[in-house]
Amino acid sequence: MNTTHVKMLDFLDTCFEIERVSAEMYRFFADRFLGDRSACLMWRKTARDEENHARQIDLARKAVDSISRVSLASWHKAAATLEGTRQIAGMVRDSPPTLEDAILLALKCEKCMESIQTENARKVDEPVVNRMFEGMIKEDREHVRMLESALCRIREHGEDAGYRMPLSA
Ligand SMILES: [Fe+2]
Ligand SMILES: [Fe+2]
Repeated sequence: MNTTHVKMLDFLDTCFEIERVSAEMYRFFADRFLGDRSACLMWRKTARDEENHARQIDLARKAVDSISRVSLASWHKAAATLEGTRQIAGMVRDSPPTLEDAILLALKCEKCMESIQTENARKVDEPVVNRMFEGMIKEDREHVRMLESALCRIREHGEDAGYRMPLSA
């Protein structure tokens, strides 16, 4: 038994789950903040992007060699990120946050995801998977930028500002 590495396929399963859980949370926020047009569009876009990341990981799973492996340390970091994302997603369902808190929680998740993708892109020794993680890093940085600018908007104008612009479902 290899005690320093795990199967790439198992590692990618964990990465897939991180994207799926975060996409689900962003869909939840899109519904919860439906009345705030720009916030709702932001949540829908981030949800679509994470769903797309999950699809890419699924495709990568089919492209990588079944004997490929990644370090146990990388897998542990991915597993810890998944656990943290699941906890946050469960917490927001049990006790739905304000828009400001939702953004702060999403920023926390995005920063964790960006850090893990950066490490994955650097450490995973499989070109197809490397390129995929590099593409995701760019999109996660864009998510951070969007979330930070939404945070500035509501801190400046208040959470009600966006409610003046109803969005049809
Ligand atoms: Fe993602
Ligand atoms: Fe993201």
